[in-house]
Amino acid sequence: FIAVPSVQEMVRSDHQTVPERYIQEYEKRPLTDALSSTSYEIPVIDFSLLAKRDENEQKKLDSACKEWGFFQVIYIYIYIYMSCMHIINHGVGEELIERMRDREAACFDLPLEVKNKYALGDAMQGYGQAFVESEEQKLDWGDPFFLMAYPPQYRNFHNWPLIVPSFKEIVEEYSAEIIRVSEEILANLSLLMKMKEDSLKEMHKVMRLGMRMNYYPLCSKPELVLGVSPHSDGGSITILLQDDDVTGLQVLHQGQWVPVKPLPGAFVVNLGDAMQMWSNGVYKSVEHRAITNTRKARMSIAMFVMPDNDAEMGPVDTMVCDNCPARYQRVKYKNFMRSYLDRTVTGEQ
Ligand code: SIN
Ligand code: FE2
Repeated sequence: FIAVPSVQEMVRSDHQTVPERYIQEYEKRPLTDALSSTSYEIPVIDFSLLAKRDENEQKKLDSACKEWGFFQVIYIYIYIYMSCMHIINHGVGEELIERMRDREAACFDLPLEVKNKYALGDAMQGYGQAFVESEEQKLDWGDPFFLMAYPPQYRNFHNWPLIVPSFKEIVEEYSAEIIRVSEEILANLSLLMKMKEDSLKEMHKVMRLGMRMNYYPLCSKPELVLGVSPHSDGGSITILLQDDDVTGLQVLHQGQWVPVKPLPGAFVVNLGDAMQMWSNGVYKSVEHRAITNTRKARMSIAMFVMPDNDAEMGPVDTMVCDNCPARYQRVKYKNFMRSYLDRTVTGEQ
């Protein structure tokens, strides 16, 4: 891949100019539809009820996954759930989230020459845009920092900004929490897919967690650029922490780009292609994108739960029937990912 400039640095030195490479083809521009409001809101799921296997809440989860492939989980309840683990009354949940956000900001605040020491390397961890293959390719208006957060032996510390105090410890703590949340969601989805509670978890013998911190600088012409181009996620589920006060994420719903308005105290959860394939297309891995604005930079942290490389993608037995034949072939995750990456690079859907 080709190294590209830091957008943050570009905007710092000149916040008016939008170089040609960032101006999207006409059809891909967010134009004003992206900036207009709509009455749609993505569903809100109460995690504490999922943890209790509440059937009503499971039904809400089921329809959220079918219709939207996206929902928000209120993390304030996670910490009630964790009272089972003796963590209640310590305020760990919100405090950890704040520390994680703060460490993310500290990473992007580092001087460019320091960030460049952690430039994206061969192991695909570090600072900078991946998947840039040509000088002509349109670029996203954002700077990602990608790390493998879990399991520990995947962490390529060489490309981690360990100069940021406690960064490593907080990522470790945050990853552990995200794994806990993910396992609970996977357990509920397993039951909804008529499998044993542990079935989806077993497709993740080792829970692999990719972590992408995103920094989207403000932009003088948000109608021409994209923070992140439209894509679906390739893995199982993604748990996103977005800013409480800057909207940017949009989900394609019934042909319309619907903004995901920040809900303070909530994670945004979406299903990836692996989940769509396991569920035989019943659950959706929906396309989403991020836009920018003229007023304020936006940050987010996406945690990608990824299946084992050798896990079989394709419908699980319980999701195939006489009237619902398999819509996907069985393919190992690593082979599926290879074609996913090809598609990402070529921009084909
Ligand atoms: C993404 O889905 O790739 C980015 C999400 C976001 O920053 O809101
Ligand atoms: Fe995504």
